[in-house]
Order: sequence, then C-alpha cells, then structure tokens
Amino acid sequence: MSIPKNLICPLCASPLSLRERSLCCGGEKTHCYDMAASGYVNLLPPGKMNNAKTGDGKDMLRARVNFLSGGYYDIISNTVADIVDENIAKDKLTVLDAGCGEGYHLCNITSKLMKHKQVCAIGVDASKHGADMGAKTARFKKLPAFFAAGNIFSLPVAENSCDAVISMFAPIPAEETARVLRDDGVLVVVASGVHHLWEMRSIIYDEPRENTKGIKCPEGFVLQSETKVSEKVSLPDNETIMNLFTMTPFYHRCPKEGRERLGKTNSLDITVEAVIQTFKKA
Ligand SMILES: C[S@@+](CC[C@H](N)C(=O)[O-])C[C@H]1O[C@@H](n2cnc3c(N)ncnc32)[C@H](O)[C@@H]1O
Repeated sequence: MSIPKNLICPLCASPLSLRERSLCCGGEKTHCYDMAASGYVNLLPPGKMNNAKTGDGKDMLRARVNFLSGGYYDIISNTVADIVDENIAKDKLTVLDAGCGEGYHLCNITSKLMKHKQVCAIGVDASKHGADMGAKTARFKKLPAFFAAGNIFSLPVAENSCDAVISMFAPIPAEETARVLRDDGVLVVVASGVHHLWEMRSIIYDEPRENTKGIKCPEGFVLQSETKVSEKVSLPDNETIMNLFTMTPFYHRCPKEGRERLGKTNSLDITVEAVIQTFKKA
C-alpha cells in the first residue's frame, strides 16, 4: 500500500512517513501511529473524540455498505468523479474526502478517476470503524486510497496539498478545508436535493416536507458551479428499504408510527436527488 506524502502528525503537525507498520513523524519528540491490519491508521488527536464510539457505529456502517453496494447512489459519486476530472487538468492528483464514512463513495470515485489519472485518495472520518471499512474496500479493490480516523476540523493533512476536497453529506469546516486545499484546487460539496427520498418521507411522516436546506457557501470560498442529479431507483425488498432508512437522519427522529409503516413496506420506487456544488478559494 502506498502512503500519501502529505499526511501530518495530529500532535505536532510534522510530516508523517512509514516506519515498518507505523506512521511516524520527524518532530523533536517522535510520535508514531500504528497501522491496523486493514491498513487504516488512527490519526485522531488524543481527547474526547478518540474513542471507539465516535462517529457511526458498526451496525449503522454495515447498513450503509449494504445499501450503497446496491449502486443506488452511484449516480452521485459518478458525477462527483466527473466534476473532479473536469476541474483538475493535472495527470496526478490528490483527492481528500472529508467525512468519508465507510469510504464507499471515495472508492467509487477513485476507481473512476484512475481510468484517466494517477490518483492519491485520502479518506478521513471520525469513525474508526468507518476508516477501517474504507481501508478494507480499498485493499480488496486494489485502489490507491488511504483511510484514516481523524477530525475534519483539524485534518492530519499538510496545507496546500490537495487538488480536490470532497464533502458528501458531511460538515464543512471552511477554514480547515481552505488550509489543505491548493490555491487552484476545487471543493466539491454534495447535499440532499429538494425531493431526495421523497417517497420515504411520505411514508414516515403524515405531513412530509421538502428539503429546502441547500448548501451555504463556506466562508473564504466562491461558488463556481451547481449540478443537480436526480433518479428514481427501485428498492426491491424491506431489508434494502430499512438499510437506507438506517443511514438517514430520519432514523433518529421519525415518529414510531412512521417507522412501523416503513417496516411493512416491501418495495419502493424512490427519488435519489442531490445537489453538487463546486467552490474555489476566494
Ligand atoms: C452523513 S455521513 C456521510 C458519510 C459519507 N460522506 C457518505 O456520503 O456516505 C457524515 C459523516 O461525517 C463524519 N463526521 C462528522 N463530524 C466529523 C468530524 N468532526 N471529523 C470527522 N468526521 C466527521 C461522520 O462520522 C459521518 O461518517
């Protein structure tokens, strides 16, 4: 496995490099981070966030992988890959997915980009389980993608070192994103569209509402483009429907009756709709 050259120590910000099965920094006091069997490394700074419970749990992540591997959201990651490809003219590029979850999208994006370019992909998520699953997928598919548990508000990544930063359904720390993005790089942000999962909302809520939140331009960035993707997909059974439900925010806030109605739904044609915006540094 190749280790990205732009990783930095979460404690002293010195560059990290591989020493046997650890990433070690060259700071005055050397800090080392062991690589797990999967290849992921825990680069979460010591403190509150650095525990097994941070981020989504194993069950939630498993539901996500099971759902996503059906290809139902591939229209989104395929479009993100095309957008990165179009925006970065270089042959070699470094792509960071900030808040990558279990890495399904980053792996998909990497395998698409690899057809045209030499790619170094980095996925960072607060969830150790997520980073571990991402590393396993990358290893299985032989992709040049490295996964770390880390805090996207204090990324273990050197400044000005990423050609593209991707943020899919995740928080966007504007200042930290600007720090790691090259001046000519692109920030690609994905958020739910107005009618995203409308048919599921209509089952779980008596009065479903459209998603009108949109994407707020991160401070220090300028909007370049907006693309909407929308597609109807057929979910063939209740297991697939419940996997999708489990990975959405509705899982935590939907009323009991709505959950029961969904539990009895055996197939569903559903709208997958996302807004993808690109930003450049101001
Ligand atoms: C809704 S999920 C999206 C995951 C993935 N991007 C996708 O679209 O499938 C949001 C992700 O952001 C991660 N996240 C939230 N705050 C974070 C932080 N401060 N540092 C790292 N990851 C964070 C969560 O652990 C979660 O995996």
